[in-house]
Amino acid sequence: MGQSNLFIALLTLSCTLFLFSNSVFAQLKPNYYANICPNVENIVRGVVQQKVRQTFVTIPGTLRLFFHDCFVQGCDASVIIASTANNTAEKDNPDNLSLAGDGFDTVIKAKAAVDAVPSCQNKVSCADILALATRDVVVQAGGPSYTVELGRLDGLSSTAASVNGKLPQPTFNLDQLTSLFAKNGLTRTDMIALSGAHTLGFSHCNKFSNRIYNFSPKNPVDPTLNKTYAIQLQQMCPKDVDPRIAINMDPTTPNTFDNVYYQNLQQGKGLFTSDEVLFTDRRSRPIVNLWASNSAAFRSAFVTAITKLGRVGVKTGSNGNIRRNCAVFN
Ligand code: HEM
Repeated sequence: MGQSNLFIALLTLSCTLFLFSNSVFAQLKPNYYANICPNVENIVRGVVQQKVRQTFVTIPGTLRLFFHDCFVQGCDASVIIASTANNTAEKDNPDNLSLAGDGFDTVIKAKAAVDAVPSCQNKVSCADILALATRDVVVQAGGPSYTVELGRLDGLSSTAASVNGKLPQPTFNLDQLTSLFAKNGLTRTDMIALSGAHTLGFSHCNKFSNRIYNFSPKNPVDPTLNKTYAIQLQQMCPKDVDPRIAINMDPTTPNTFDNVYYQNLQQGKGLFTSDEVLFTDRRSRPIVNLWASNSAAFRSAFVTAITKLGRVGVKTGSNGNIRRNCAVFN
């Protein structure tokens, strides 16, 4: 190889490595805003605490919003973009219509509070504010605290079509769940830990009515459901229920972030097939049993998993920007 060819080869290699490192291994770091907006964590926490005092839904609403953001085009706040006459955004895909408005409102309010500080104005991404608010709601519910990695940019596109196939369905079995999470760099253990988020929040009746009324020709009620729990679900969600009715997903400690979710699964009280299968499938059962009895082990696995979730598809450089209004592209 001539010297100039060698030079071109090396240049190509270093450009490829640069692009690769920029897109795949975007470097997030905990102190990203230390010199830009040193008080950002306190500002976001203050807004979250105030919002939680107004309504508890802030907690599950924000946590679920982060998950739905990260699994569609990465953690880039694309889920917060509002639809316009020319574009139906992610949030209007059927899979996102049940996202609670209070999750969106939390980010909008925290962004306003951050931007009210002159040195912070237009310096902190909506994606990072959502990541911080998510940690704060977990803590508010009694969950583990953890360091949030920062430095995400906000995404430049948000379409309803891009959501299709990217989010798990409540009817999924273990293989479907594992493979969807694997596409986002998350292991089966991460998936089981993140499912523990269903220790909080609400579900509309239509998300699980198949399990209590028409599971199969032989078994109208899913045989893996606890019999007493199935009757309670039928009472809370009669066949002609108002579609706006939502019930607690953790029937035991609905407002606390704890490992009772896994104890519920042991008793057949997982609300969705995708919850209960974590116990009925013998490949995931040992982890469910471990975390049902060992809260510290669950908390530590959750922190690992949500930190990895926060790294999914992070935008840097020209792939993103810092939105002035989280719901509108600049
Ligand atoms: C493993 C696959 C998952 C499936 C199939 C699933 C599905 C669902 C469904 C169907 C609902 C009820 C929505 C409604 O009717 O309003 C729900 C609620 C919720 N999900 Fe998941 N989810 C999964 C994983 C996760 C993960 C990884 C997180 C967060 C880390 C999460 C957080 C939540 C929260 C907090 C709620 C309650 C929302 C509220 O009360 O507003 N879920 N999920």
